[in-house]
Amino acid sequence: MATPVYTPFVFLLLLFQSGVWGFPVRQTPQESPTCGYKSCHATKPGMLNVHLVPHTHDDVGWLKTVDQYFYGDRNDIQHAGVQYILDSVVDQLLKNPDRRFIYVETAFFYRWWKQQTDDMQNTVKQLVNEGRLEFVNGGWCMSDEATTHYSAVIDQMTMGLRFLNDTFGHCGRPRVAWHIDPFGHAREHASMFAQMGYDGFFFGRLDYQDRSRRMVAREQEMLWRASESLTPPMADLFTGILPNGYNPPEGFCWDQSCDDPPIRDDPDLEDYNVDDVVTRFLRIAQAQALVYKTNHIIMTMGSDFQYENANLWYKNLDKLIRYVNQKQSNGSEVNVLYSTPSCYLQELHRANLTWPLKGDDFFPYADSAHDFWTGYFTSRPALKRYERISNSYLQTCNQLEVLGGPISRKGPFGAGDSDTLKKAMAVAQHHDAVSGTEKQHVANDYARRLANGWAHCQVLVSNTLSSLSGSSAPRVYCEHLNISVCPLTETSKKFSVNVYNPLARPVSWPVRLPVNGTAYSISDPKGKAVDSQVVPVSQATAAVRRGRGYAVNELLFQVQAPPLGYSTYSVSLLQNGPPSPQSSPLPRAPKAVQNKFLRVTFDPETGLLSSLSNLETQQTVKLSQNFYWYNASDGNNSESIQMSGAYIFRPNTSTPFIISKTAKIETLQNSVVQEVRQWFSPWVSQVVRLYTDSRALELEWTVGPVPIGDDLGKEVISRLDSSINSSGVFYTDSNGREVLQRRKDYRPTWNLRQSEPIAGNYYPINSRAYIKDDKDQLTVVTDRSQGGGSIQDGSLEIMLHRRLLYDDVRGVGEPLNETSDIYPEGLVVRGRLLLSLSPPATAADTHRPLAQEVVLQPLITFTDGELHPSTRLEFSGLQAVLPPAVHLLTVSQWDQDSVLLRLEHQYQASESKEHSQPVTVNLQKLFSTLDVLGVSEMNLSANQWKDEMTRLDWKAESGEMPLPKRGGDPSVWEVNLKPMEIRTFLLRVRQR
Ligand SMILES: *[C@@H]1O[C@H](CO)[C@@H](O)[C@H](O)[C@H]1NC(C)=O
Ligand SMILES: *[C@@H]1O[C@H](CO)[C@@H](O)[C@H](O)[C@H]1NC(C)=O
Ligand SMILES: [Zn+2]
Repeated sequence: MATPVYTPFVFLLLLFQSGVWGFPVRQTPQESPTCGYKSCHATKPGMLNVHLVPHTHDDVGWLKTVDQYFYGDRNDIQHAGVQYILDSVVDQLLKNPDRRFIYVETAFFYRWWKQQTDDMQNTVKQLVNEGRLEFVNGGWCMSDEATTHYSAVIDQMTMGLRFLNDTFGHCGRPRVAWHIDPFGHAREHASMFAQMGYDGFFFGRLDYQDRSRRMVAREQEMLWRASESLTPPMADLFTGILPNGYNPPEGFCWDQSCDDPPIRDDPDLEDYNVDDVVTRFLRIAQAQALVYKTNHIIMTMGSDFQYENANLWYKNLDKLIRYVNQKQSNGSEVNVLYSTPSCYLQELHRANLTWPLKGDDFFPYADSAHDFWTGYFTSRPALKRYERISNSYLQTCNQLEVLGGPISRKGPFGAGDSDTLKKAMAVAQHHDAVSGTEKQHVANDYARRLANGWAHCQVLVSNTLSSLSGSSAPRVYCEHLNISVCPLTETSKKFSVNVYNPLARPVSWPVRLPVNGTAYSISDPKGKAVDSQVVPVSQATAAVRRGRGYAVNELLFQVQAPPLGYSTYSVSLLQNGPPSPQSSPLPRAPKAVQNKFLRVTFDPETGLLSSLSNLETQQTVKLSQNFYWYNASDGNNSESIQMSGAYIFRPNTSTPFIISKTAKIETLQNSVVQEVRQWFSPWVSQVVRLYTDSRALELEWTVGPVPIGDDLGKEVISRLDSSINSSGVFYTDSNGREVLQRRKDYRPTWNLRQSEPIAGNYYPINSRAYIKDDKDQLTVVTDRSQGGGSIQDGSLEIMLHRRLLYDDVRGVGEPLNETSDIYPEGLVVRGRLLLSLSPPATAADTHRPLAQEVVLQPLITFTDGELHPSTRLEFSGLQAVLPPAVHLLTVSQWDQDSVLLRLEHQYQASESKEHSQPVTVNLQKLFSTLDVLGVSEMNLSANQWKDEMTRLDWKAESGEMPLPKRGGDPSVWEVNLKPMEIRTFLLRVRQR
């Protein structure tokens, strides 16, 4: 039992202050003697030990929705029913105590658990306590690694692991991370898993060239050093590649969905086959042992939705074990056992070897020369954006639940909750959800769940804002501001705009509201007039609305909101006269557009961008930008019949088609914004926008419906071509956090034979990408996950939208050809790229806060009419602004009187002279409305107390292992954060 984190002095002081006994927040866990590593079957040291791992891979939605999979509905689409799997497995585990099973996806287990009787729940608890049923990974889902943002991944893991801990305690804690199906592996995921306390990680998919090399070199198991900033072993993760994806070896699939012969072991009957089965098995085991380092190997005995009739599997596995091991009396040196990934991992650890070190990631993933899984980085761009803003909305909802207290959940607007959105977001992280690789009806289901979560959060947000502001005026939400639709602002003569800022520093944010008047007066919370402009709605926006709004103008003004708080602005219609002359667009490109930070020039002939300058640093690069499309391969190709599809990007040619060499232009310049509206074709337009206060140039693209009348699938990119001498190198972030270097036609860990010059050079961009040379760095911040590459020096391309006519034969069975009721001829998608130009040494000072503002954007809500004079127009939940390096990653109600808090240092080591320094935050000086009475630190996924967290230690073949130094915190309340560190705390709080 470790000591509490309080010094006696503080402890007494606290007791005195609060009158609360029973510090700290944590309690002592009950240790069970038989689960975990202690429950593993014995192995035989002198033999080859084969660990059979019975498992099922249950996608949290793919060809069917998550609920259809749970119940086994729509078996006409795919035969799969998770409830039956769990019923059947528990039944079979009880029949033989040697049997083992692992379960992975808590979203399903939770659904099943709720429906069990007390008796059954107790039976299952016993199986878990004895290590016969073991949870592995244990997040709500098995998240995608290319297109997820770290903040949402941490949340979904926290939710799944919390359910397991609450339900099973210590024995429910998974020791192993298990991503057997995701299509490539992100370094940031490995870093997170290490910080979540996992002892090891196994996966199934990696590049086929990488795998061949690793098999020969016996490097399929390694130590992944997953952070360049965190001190080892903090982000070190033992990582193993499974031998056969996640399937059983050939000939040994005994599920009801398989056709392999059962073991026929009665010599009196026909077709006795025990000798044949044993011989085949021994051959496979021995071959497998040649490509791994120890005398232990693992076999994954299961696959997608298997074990619905678990008797088939277990009956044959029992026999396999018996007959293979019987051979030992005749000199066989192979020992087979029921096992789990953690039992296998324990044996690898006991082997006491050194392991090769891995520093980069496993992107992109190719399973053959022309089959690069780089299309899904962009697939379903609208869902990807919806998922990203839903994360923003969830963080706001979580914060307002804490700041509002109990009234947030039950207040003047009814019962609200954050739980519905939490669950919807957790499901959306699945590797066939935000990845875009699910069937259309399943994508619709994910979106519907998110929308339902929003509705629940809206009630909560209304309750809290009404409580904080003292006004219970009905609050209106406008979710279509991106296409200038908001019935209230379109019709009202007087309304107020509440801007809630979820960041821990003040932000200034441009607001753009659909209106029908031509002049408005706006006042800020202090009653001061705010500069505003009214401009006509662009044709592109009017076209994309499709009758959902009729505003002719947009009202523009800049708002400021305090940290973790809101500002309320009042808007009144002044007149309905003619618009000011400043507001009419001019039909030509300006020579230049500039504010105090940036200047951009345009080519007067083409209307395209021609240069970008940073006026503060006096640097200029040539920069043009245009839209192109790759012709998606239809499979009719001499080299390979692979088509482009939801997963795979395979252009027919390496030269993309230009959509138009010139753009039709309209220019608007006023005191709030300057924008150049470019029109390239009926389905591609863009606004190049520079706000008066911004250090970033905004490129708002609108793409679609992508035409397919020519029967050609199209993959649309935005390409920036600059004078930067990038020498074949560019940079992309990993899950929105640390940045990795990418080199054209190159992989850091093997000699690449490049076979796809475009698709083989694409990488996931979660939040940013950049190119640089000695002088200049051009950074692009994206508003969702997208794929991209740097094919030519100085060039950076980002794939925006994909419309495809063929399935790519990876299982989804549909071409990625998105339409909807509103857009029957193809989805129209709109998004933003934010460009900044800086010297490389200070670029992070701009792109870190910029990307953060895109990820956690203010929530804008409205109330109609005049506000009551007593309304509180401004509020901040923080006592003071946090240091710029610190990000408030999580503020979320944990239980009645405790709050989960995550503080993050958002800069990498050596990334910024100014900000890549340790910083300190005082927990008691954090919140303005909450007293913090107690604190306990937890691991990243909040399922273990930090001081009880012990992980297996692993030795690397190379690379010095610095002694882990944890610069101690100055005091209990003063928390020190080093670059890229995230620290997780459970706070006991009291509303002031
Ligand atoms: C592990 O190997 C090291 C040498 O690399 C040795 O010093 C140590 O005793 C070994 N530990 C065990 C438990 O065998
Ligand atoms: C895990 O669950 C146990 C039993 O419910 C509880 O006592 C313990 O505090 C939990 N651990 C964490 C880290 O929440
Ligand atoms: Zn899967």
